Amino acid sequence: MENIKSDILIIGCGIAGASAALEAARSGLKVIIVTKSSKFEESNTYYAQGGIVSLGHDDNPELLKEDILETGDGINNLEAVEILAREGKEIVEKILIQELKIPFTRSSPDSLDYAQEAGHSRRRILHIKDMTGRTIEEKFIEALQEYSNVTLIEDHTAVDLLTVPHHSKDYTAYYKKPQCIGAYVLENQSQKVKAFFAPYTILATGGCGAVYLYTSNPSGAIGDGYAMAYRAGARIVNMEYIQFHPTSFFHRDAEGFLISETVRGEGARLKTRDGQTFMENYNQKKDLAPRDEVTRAIYEEMTNSNSSYVYLDLASYARIDIKKRFPNIYRTCLEYGLDITKEAIPVVPAAHYCCGGILVDSWGRSSLKGLSSVGEVSCTGVHGANRLASTSLLEGLVWGTRASRYIVSHFDPATPYKTAEIHDWYYPGIQEEIDPALINQDWLFIKSTMWNYAGIIRTKKRLERARADLDYLRHRIERFYREAKMDPKVVGLKHGIQVAQLITHAALSNPVSQGAHYLKD
Ligand code: SIN
Repeated sequence: MENIKSDILIIGCGIAGASAALEAARSGLKVIIVTKSSKFEESNTYYAQGGIVSLGHDDNPELLKEDILETGDGINNLEAVEILAREGKEIVEKILIQELKIPFTRSSPDSLDYAQEAGHSRRRILHIKDMTGRTIEEKFIEALQEYSNVTLIEDHTAVDLLTVPHHSKDYTAYYKKPQCIGAYVLENQSQKVKAFFAPYTILATGGCGAVYLYTSNPSGAIGDGYAMAYRAGARIVNMEYIQFHPTSFFHRDAEGFLISETVRGEGARLKTRDGQTFMENYNQKKDLAPRDEVTRAIYEEMTNSNSSYVYLDLASYARIDIKKRFPNIYRTCLEYGLDITKEAIPVVPAAHYCCGGILVDSWGRSSLKGLSSVGEVSCTGVHGANRLASTSLLEGLVWGTRASRYIVSHFDPATPYKTAEIHDWYYPGIQEEIDPALINQDWLFIKSTMWNYAGIIRTKKRLERARADLDYLRHRIERFYREAKMDPKVVGLKHGIQVAQLITHAALSNPVSQGAHYLKD
């Protein structure tokens, strides 16, 4: 088996992984970043439209903190919220504006433009029109490519974390403290598994929206990191808090294309199919109520009228030049035959963000020695039971930077193993060719079970059914995994079923209906 060594191994390259890499790069340590996609840019970050929270003109960290806590429904980690509110603006200015020269949209030559989103008491969201994530991601990749001590490896799928004693040939290793020492990673093209060794591993694999039938996330967001960390014994918390975005474009071919909340921030209103606004019946903040409430209101309106969508009407209410402010949304909808300057947009809710994940401290360290985690796959506790809009890019940036800052300042290259003491990847004997029909059907089963039974509105009965069905499927997938050729699709299925189970079990264990975990009974 091929062995590859670095000082820091980073899995995933959205804003969190990329900012961890950039911070580490400056120290001269040898950094390897692997991504499963053949394009580095492919990540949830790339698709983020709305923006990144900073502090607006009449704003301060205390106000931001209050908004995060109110949306999070009282179970946020106060220490983490204070770090984000206190350090966020400075990190945005230093890294994104001064170092990466991100061209945030301006309202005048000497003033940045701040957008409004639900749950925010101030306009405080920096954006680049409606393509914020794309520009940020591209600038990070450009900057990382300048460092000779950083190696970017694409088209490689992480299979499992390497841990001692679990993967050690030395039986006395069981007396040592468990430690992550890298990962087994599959080279997608050759279907060979390699061992990436590092005394420090950072999981930055993003979220898991794609275990649901309808999602705003790219298809690769199936939660690889949660599954690997769980199998390695790291603590995972709050997985029941899956946030649904109220407004994804309802179109057969548009695959969960997001209609950013900033569209409502610029005046758009939700309407039933017969043209009635309805959010005033649910919350005094109307269309800018917290997103879990907007999502449930839409769900209810759809159920009451037996409809598959509601409308989002920007054309009648816009206070801005639509094409200039939302060029990406305008262009994409037009490609599907809808002119948003003239017509209302059909929308449905979609799985969007996981507020829980690998439990980490204020420096991104997980409960497993040698393993840090940043961005959506981690749980700092910032979001509590529900995430305030546009805080995720900032959390990724702040914790990505902090995680590497800590590693660099405490760097200890000593590891309790020699690579020769670690098991090579074990390929099971059979190695059957994979049948895509089986994989597609298993995914359809997982996604529709999650959508219908562990989705926007949950009941104990639905969740119990989900648990039973997923447990049964898990056995079949495990057998399939042992018999099939190593292929990224098979690895993805193994990760995906595990994540679906983690969410369902967490939801069943928590009888308190709160935030994004909404129980009807
Ligand atoms: C959006 O633009 O509506 C998404 C922003 C977010 O989820 O933070």
